[in-house]
Amino acid sequence: MKTSQGEIKRGHSALSLSTGEIGDLLRKHELRVSILGLGRIGLPTAAVFAEAGARVTGIDVDARVVNQTNAGESRLTDEPGLAPVIKRNVKEGRLSATLKPETVLPDSDFIIICVPTPVDQTKSPDYTAIKAVAHTVGKSLGRGSIVIVESTVGPGVVENTVGPILESESGMKVGVDFGLASCPERSDPGTIMKNMHSVPRIMGCSDAHAGDLVATLYREGLGVEVVKVSSPKTANAVKLTENLFRDVNIALANEFALLYEKFGIDTVEVINACATKYNFVPHYPGAGVGGPCLPSNSYYLIMEGLKVGNIPYLIRLAREVNDRMPDHMVELTSEALNEIGKTVSGARIAVLGIAYKPEVKDIQLTPIEHIIDRLREMHAIVEVYDPMFVGDKVMGLVVHKSVEDAVRGANCVIIGTAHSEFKKIDLSSLAKMTADRAAIVDGRGVFEPADAKRAGFAFRGVGRVASPD
Ligand SMILES: NC(=O)c1ccc[n+]([C@@H]2O[C@H](COP(=O)([O-])OP(=O)(O)OC[C@H]3O[C@@H](n4cnc5c(N)ncnc54)[C@H](O)[C@@H]3O)[C@@H](O)[C@H]2O)c1
Repeated sequence: MKTSQGEIKRGHSALSLSTGEIGDLLRKHELRVSILGLGRIGLPTAAVFAEAGARVTGIDVDARVVNQTNAGESRLTDEPGLAPVIKRNVKEGRLSATLKPETVLPDSDFIIICVPTPVDQTKSPDYTAIKAVAHTVGKSLGRGSIVIVESTVGPGVVENTVGPILESESGMKVGVDFGLASCPERSDPGTIMKNMHSVPRIMGCSDAHAGDLVATLYREGLGVEVVKVSSPKTANAVKLTENLFRDVNIALANEFALLYEKFGIDTVEVINACATKYNFVPHYPGAGVGGPCLPSNSYYLIMEGLKVGNIPYLIRLAREVNDRMPDHMVELTSEALNEIGKTVSGARIAVLGIAYKPEVKDIQLTPIEHIIDRLREMHAIVEVYDPMFVGDKVMGLVVHKSVEDAVRGANCVIIGTAHSEFKKIDLSSLAKMTADRAAIVDGRGVFEPADAKRAGFAFRGVGRVASPD
């Protein structure tokens, strides 16, 4: 049967399938998957399901993204392995993109939501995009389809917000006429294609049969283990718990760092020694925590906690500690410059690394932006280099072509990101490029304080002993 768009109409609905049929349909290229949001998460997800045999349509509101995908190109140049998968699957007709959800949603077996869920200026979760797509999906939802939320949301948002919007727009009942699951994305930018096929998925669903089908889709499509939990809200709690465990532990490491710097104790030495004990989980201090997940995920839980009158204090405090670290970097920079007879005002400061994590072309909520802003407010002359952004204009600055270009004549070198290139820097060569007497402020534990001192630098590092003898 043909739809108005001339597409072949599916002869089944997802909920009418058995788990065995999911694999068969994948292999026969008859399973239809729609993915809303072709960003860092949605685009690789679309590519890997197409590679597994599904007929995938990506839906986005950004025409450039849709056109680029339809041209077989990857917008994510820092995701190894993604570009050839997109190219091959577009060419072979399994992957396409559209701005018109209504043309594909009614015939989709699985509809996967990967739209952004940021926090706003007041640190409240901004669920505008996920609510918008719930309305869009609800309007075009076919009976028997299964909706999967991969976006990160607070526990209960899928059941209490997404589900009711889908029901009211479609006039159908969740768990009866369509399925609703949470399967939060757990991949890491920069290694997403590898993670997609190796990191187990956590999945909670509205009903057991739809849950079995979703688990089979991910097992067969991605080749990963699927851990079934009892509800969508439990799956969302797992995602938040693992990220907040990290955020709180990094805050604890930062708290030790702030204290031990005053004691003249090296925090990295302490943590490495602690790590020799069987039950210690090492986390290291740094210039701050960035990215789309850790700086915002706490607020999803805090918001849901407020609704039930239980504020997760430790989680909130951890955010405050981590948010303090960029200011601490500015203090360390000021100290280091004072040690060589300079002030921040008028100093040439080279910032090496602006990305929020190594080897990714991503500056979402990077703590380095605050450091640069403050230094410029204090009238420093700031130069930047980041191998992922060469030649780009970022934060109002043109990114230099090399370390050498950025540090030439600098009074201070700040390490903002632990890119592998920076770990290979020879400090005595660096000293020849900077001003005669220069400082290093290491926000990422890239250099050993004693090595920096030996090369003639005044040294400060988060949690490190200042310019040790
Ligand atoms: N980036 C990560 O490292 C990561 C990791 C795990 C989970 N997540 C979560 O995954 C979700 C998606 O994040 P991302 O990093 O892929 O976002 P992103 O900003 O990279 O991409 C989002 C895409 O969604 C599109 N979009 C926005 N509104 C839309 C709408 N109404 N309809 C269709 N498309 C729309 C945008 O145009 C964009 O292309 C978020 O909830 C995020 O927290 C992200």
